[in-house]
Amino acid sequence: MNFNIRTHTCGELRKINVGENIVLNGWVARRRDLGNLIFIWLRDRYGITQVVFEPVYKDAYELAKKLRNEFVISVEGKVRIRPENAVNKELTTGEMDILVNKLEILNEAETPPFEIKNDTDAYEDLRLRYRYLDLRRPSLQKILLLRHKMYQVTRKYFDENSFTEIETPVLMKSTPEGARDYLVPSRIHKGKFYALPQSPQQYKQLLMVSGFDRYFQIVKCFRDEDLRADRQPEFTQIDVEMSFTNREEVFKVVEGLMKNFFKEIWNVDLSLPIPRLTYDEAMMKYGSDKPDLRFDLQLQNLNGVFTGTEFKVFGEVLKSKGIVTGIAAPGCASFSRNQVDGLTQLVKDRGAKGLVWFKVGDGKLDSPTAKFLTDKEIYDLMNKLNAKQDDLILILAGDVNSTLNQMGALRLEIAKRLGLIKPDTPKSLLWVTDFPLFEWDEETKRLYAMHHPFTSPRTEDLDLLDKEPGKVKAQAYDLVLNGNEIAGGSIRIHNANLQAIMFKALGLSEEEAQQKFGFLMNAFRYGAPPHGGIAFGFDRMVMVFAGVDSIRDTIAFPKTASALSLMDEAPSPASEEQLKELHLKIRE
Ligand code: AMO
Repeated sequence: MNFNIRTHTCGELRKINVGENIVLNGWVARRRDLGNLIFIWLRDRYGITQVVFEPVYKDAYELAKKLRNEFVISVEGKVRIRPENAVNKELTTGEMDILVNKLEILNEAETPPFEIKNDTDAYEDLRLRYRYLDLRRPSLQKILLLRHKMYQVTRKYFDENSFTEIETPVLMKSTPEGARDYLVPSRIHKGKFYALPQSPQQYKQLLMVSGFDRYFQIVKCFRDEDLRADRQPEFTQIDVEMSFTNREEVFKVVEGLMKNFFKEIWNVDLSLPIPRLTYDEAMMKYGSDKPDLRFDLQLQNLNGVFTGTEFKVFGEVLKSKGIVTGIAAPGCASFSRNQVDGLTQLVKDRGAKGLVWFKVGDGKLDSPTAKFLTDKEIYDLMNKLNAKQDDLILILAGDVNSTLNQMGALRLEIAKRLGLIKPDTPKSLLWVTDFPLFEWDEETKRLYAMHHPFTSPRTEDLDLLDKEPGKVKAQAYDLVLNGNEIAGGSIRIHNANLQAIMFKALGLSEEEAQQKFGFLMNAFRYGAPPHGGIAFGFDRMVMVFAGVDSIRDTIAFPKTASALSLMDEAPSPASEEQLKELHLKIRE
């Protein structure tokens, strides 16, 4: 097709271009037909320019009457200055328009299923079904351009710091890492399956054995897990591993990258080092292993206040080594019964038995529970929480981990209701360190590696591994940005004996360990250097830097919360022929 190729983009023209003859190509974003004047907003990924058709250029004007939204056109014309009262400040090109003398329709378009504009009210399902149209919206394009910039910052940074980018396989052996694997049946090897990597964890450790002492990769990972706003079944990591290293060096490398992101994306000078909290501190003070420190609102341990209490709810929890924890929500005593019930429901949904609350009035507590407490308990409680008039005191009691998590959720909800996070609130970036090595699973009654089975325990805790594994802390760390876990990693075990002890603690027999992790174990027999690393959740990081709430907005073609691709309708049934080739039968 012969057509006039653009001389400029739709976001480019400024006052200095006035008087020039130019050509623009793009999509019709909006049309207004005023009878003897037709205004068109022409859109491409650089912006929007207003082009005008007047009867003086009869052919163009007549053809313009046919234009509809999303037609693809080429226009040629002269750049004019707009009169003062017609300047559009919303558009970067708003000071001028184009008087068109030639119009070519490059392609027509059916009426799109939703209007393509930033503040669309179309349902997400519809937008995902027509994602290629959704992606025409400037707001989504902006996020993908930001994502592009973050890839470039990443590659430049790691290259400058002597890291080598190496690709690792997508078809690998299924190795349990926490989530469920996506499996791919083998045609050639009947009854056998590849797994898609949940992360390249073992490959990057093998690369350390091979001597590539600084590795990175921007890599797709696959996890068949329950999805949330910040999770996708396939997502991208910036994966990093280093040899002859320790935690401090890993932190330094990561902090350098974060400094670049802050500068390039937010134009903020990040001051280093990034503050740290241990896992225990984070849980006790904020009820979360990814605390949002953009606001304070700290939890207080109230066990001391209620030692020996007559109030059964607290007394029984303390007897069974649980925790009583509370916060004072400033100025929330004015919450209605309905609002307080909403808070109660929030913690009940997370497994709490109930929520104890007190409204702090003028020198007294207003609550159905107040009568069960002694004056001293009330005094100590107010003191510990530093509670003031008009505060709403919220208290939860139960087993340590879940109670702290419930209180953490309550803390976030209070911040939301009080609007404690403002657009100009400084960002919160911190390390959370010293995670427990294991976590206990009530359902299967066994320990699991909290991070993964190759995570090294803290040297000072080695003696506890046999006796009290629950108390062992790991050399594992997460990076948390505005309450989102954006990266996680650890120093690894590189010693075969220690790895064997670890497998034993996890209840894996030698044969099982050999079967599951044999190739890594074998490699470690040939001189594995001390090593450690980290992986960033790239999509999640883009989400925070772009200031959006859903990870789906950062991915060109995402899946829904139920792991569907509405556009191409994946997953879809396989034909009988395909199943036969793969030696598979669908179970009813
Ligand atoms: P981890 O499992 O903590 O560590 O993952 C690293 C980071 O990846 C992001 N992430 C996800 N993002 C979107 N959707 C998901 N389903 C999803 N799951 C995880 C998170 C997380 O912090 N191999 C180790 C890293 C290491 O030890 O070096 C690993 O994968 O932001």
